Amino acid sequence: MIAIISDIHSNLEALQAVLKDIQTQDVEKIYCLGDVIGYGPNPRDCIDLVLEMPVVLLGNHDQGAMFDPEGFNPGAERAIFWTRAQLENANEPREKRERRWEFLAERPRIHRDENALFVHGSARNPINEYVFPEDVYNPRKMERIFAYIDRYCFQGHTHVPGVFTESLQFYSPEEIEKVYTLDGRKTMVNVGSVGQPRDGDWRACYVLYDGKTVRFCRVEYDIDTTVKKIYEVPELENFLGDRLRDGR
Ligand SMILES: [Fe+2]
Repeated sequence: MIAIISDIHSNLEALQAVLKDIQTQDVEKIYCLGDVIGYGPNPRDCIDLVLEMPVVLLGNHDQGAMFDPEGFNPGAERAIFWTRAQLENANEPREKRERRWEFLAERPRIHRDENALFVHGSARNPINEYVFPEDVYNPRKMERIFAYIDRYCFQGHTHVPGVFTESLQFYSPEEIEKVYTLDGRKTMVNVGSVGQPRDGDWRACYVLYDGKTVRFCRVEYDIDTTVKKIYEVPELENFLGDRLRDGR
């Protein structure tokens, strides 16, 4: 079984809680679908915790930290510049800093397993395209994205977990009692977000996948600590802490 995590967004408490939860499961490896950093207060620690994972994809915020950020709102952009400064000015040995930059620079945009494709955004535009639940009402868009998928596609980016079928249904984890059995037909699975869920549930989200069954997991974490840290950094808007509590 593999655990699939995404959109950690520098939320160390959420990531630690998820990794602890994963340890209680029968998981052989962990895949991360990108956006390890951006928004939250602990970019260095979060990168250090995913460094050894066999698959860590490039997300738009990871890319934004390396290059000129494009297409971000002002709050997100400020967070990206602050994140970059954290990675550059770390009071740490140079090798450690260089290792993190190299790691970011080497991130692939996609990963393929036997039956599944893994991306941050969408199969069509792996880093930047959002596939929202309401896109099931946009058949043109969905058909075009499904055309890039052989069978299953795991993705993140929207921070909204759930399952998209080729018959244009979207199922939230609640609607399917947190479990979905893949049946060979084309399916997209959004694994949700570890560090900044936006489905109205503040708890960290991740997915377990055994080749056939997808299970959505939610994990409580020490959100007070994370919010306090965000409030303490002037470059990180307080809103970024408030939205964690609301799950928005
Ligand atoms: Fe994200």
